[in-house]
Amino acid sequence: MTTDKRANFGSKLGVILASAGSAVGLGNIWRFPYETGENGGAAFIIIYLGCVLLMGVPIMVAEFLIGRRSRANTAGAYQRLAPGTPWKWVGRMGVLAGFLILSYYTVVAGWTLEFIYEAATNSFADKNAEGFIAAFDSFVANPWRPLIWLVAFMLMTHFIIVKGVEKGIEKSAKIMMPALFILLIILAICSISLPGSSAGINFLFKPDFSQINSNTFLSAMGQAFFSLSLGMGCLCTYASYFKNDTPLSKVALNVATIDTLVAILAGIIIFPAAFSVGIKPDAGPSLLFITLPNVFQQAFGSIPLLAITLSIMFYVLLAVAALTSTISLHEVVTAYLHEEFSMTRKKAACIVTTSCIILGVFCSLSLGVGKEYTLFGMTLFDLFDYVTAKLMMPIGGFLIAIFTGWYLDRKIVWEEITNQGKLKPIIFKTLVFLLKYFSPIAILLIFIHELGLL
Ligand code: PFF
Repeated sequence: MTTDKRANFGSKLGVILASAGSAVGLGNIWRFPYETGENGGAAFIIIYLGCVLLMGVPIMVAEFLIGRRSRANTAGAYQRLAPGTPWKWVGRMGVLAGFLILSYYTVVAGWTLEFIYEAATNSFADKNAEGFIAAFDSFVANPWRPLIWLVAFMLMTHFIIVKGVEKGIEKSAKIMMPALFILLIILAICSISLPGSSAGINFLFKPDFSQINSNTFLSAMGQAFFSLSLGMGCLCTYASYFKNDTPLSKVALNVATIDTLVAILAGIIIFPAAFSVGIKPDAGPSLLFITLPNVFQQAFGSIPLLAITLSIMFYVLLAVAALTSTISLHEVVTAYLHEEFSMTRKKAACIVTTSCIILGVFCSLSLGVGKEYTLFGMTLFDLFDYVTAKLMMPIGGFLIAIFTGWYLDRKIVWEEITNQGKLKPIIFKTLVFLLKYFSPIAILLIFIHELGLL
């Protein structure tokens, strides 16, 4: 099929917002703080920033140029640029990663809906830190409630994918992004002003390098790939709709900057608040959901209407941020099935939605009633997260760097980065160096280190 039948965005700003929408999501606001908390704080963040700048940005440019040059879905892209070679497996692995991430990501996305409901019914009032922890634990362990929200969230994603990703998303992204940003800043200020918050700020900004262990590098790299939606063809698919005059490096830098700022802001909200009420920073995936209601309660509890309004607004924005990410994940798999197996877009979307709901149900139950069933010592939820973020995405990124740095004709790379010579190739050499040598070697070293061979 031709690319124009696929989801399309009307304007240049639209495609940039779509990429930023895919990148900014639960990865920044939910996953970044708990990974930082589990890996010792500031030292982790420094390594994370290094990964974003030196691997994330160049690999994002590489994905953009592969997508725009081929103007095809991620598996088709490699077939066009490297016909008859095994490179198509990089695209196929990306599709599988997208499928697995969508299954467990939607579980957490569903939690945001529960929290909108709880905020709206004023359930946060009069609870203390222990109360929030107990309420969250009993919600996650409930065999039905999280599943209902999971299905609801998946159906919302499905509806938008089937209707086509058009003006609605573009428009809502233009409003949603600035609104999310403003609310995050307000919450950050509130969090810092809580009593005893300075310990959280120290945790976030004062590096303690003794906290670094073999897992810190893998976690930081995995977080960078996850947060930037890299290594699995998502941004490659979106870039197939970019215009010929879209400046790829500039867009990549913008998306990485927005994404990182949102993650750091989320950290500034979560840690001062967590330290202030005595919640441990290594609480894991529940961190955001037990800390944030506390901020609303402590900062605005004396004016209930304000507390309710702000908390509803926050969870709605979080849900929308998650939705723009689930759409991009769904789109990768749907576009692949639709184009490569010549089925209608609707049928492809139905298959993706149904199978992700089934897998998602197992992921969700693995946090509650199925807790004792583990594989390699992990629940299904944790296993999906580990395999995708810490293995498949960095491996995908490694192969994309090799493909662009070593396999693709340098002329193609140059034409795409400079828009046929129209842009000044200031960072061209640096980008090629990072793709050819730095990123693949760094990724390999981190893997070897994790295996304990270094
Ligand atoms: N980057 C998204 C987030 O930070 O929430 C998650 C994600 C979306 C990962 C799309 C991968 C992807 F293809």
